[in-house]
Amino acid sequence: MNDILNAIALRSTTRAYTDEALTEAELDTLLKAGLQAPTAANRQEIHISVVDGSNPLLAEIEKEKNVLSGVEPPVNFYYNAPTVFFLSGDSAFPWSALDAGIAVENMALAAEGLGLGSVIIGCVKGVLTGAKASEFAQALHFPEGYTFEIAIAAGHKAAGKDPHEYSMDDHVSRI
Ligand SMILES: Cc1cc2nc3c(=O)[nH]c(=O)nc-3n(C[C@H](O)[C@H](O)[C@H](O)COP(=O)(O)O)c2cc1C
Repeated sequence: MNDILNAIALRSTTRAYTDEALTEAELDTLLKAGLQAPTAANRQEIHISVVDGSNPLLAEIEKEKNVLSGVEPPVNFYYNAPTVFFLSGDSAFPWSALDAGIAVENMALAAEGLGLGSVIIGCVKGVLTGAKASEFAQALHFPEGYTFEIAIAAGHKAAGKDPHEYSMDDHVSRI
């Protein structure tokens, strides 16, 4: 199988990471993978905010998430990964959510290609689009008029998981 098909087949969500930081070259590869993703009308509106796992901002987001949900999970939303990427898009552009989804999957596949783990993160959407949205948008350096779309954390895997199973019969119609 070629490299791309291999990465698609082998990628699975990683929910435990070692302390090892990503190298600048790995960061660069992941960011380029996100920005090389296609966007509607080649608008290239997706912005990526890179946050180090040690940044207290992540703890603030975690705290707020837990206040909103009323639950305090045993692990934080980014599973102590060394780096978290927040993708934001132009709120006025109708394709921003889809474009961010394509970009984040490009990043997940690039992480797999580098032998890294990743987890796509949607659970902070309530916090980052709720009452404190503008406060967090400023802290995360979202461009003016941008809103949170999706996040992804990446790092070295401390635990693996098999890719999810699926049924062609349940999800495909050949007409
Ligand atoms: C839009 C989206 C949001 C997600 N949000 C979270 C999340 O907040 N936390 C988490 O642990 N996993 C999250 N995931 C990962 C999914 O749970 C995971 O992809 C799914 O269970 C299938 O497992 P796999 O990725 O290992 O194939 C998200 C995935 C997607 C596509």
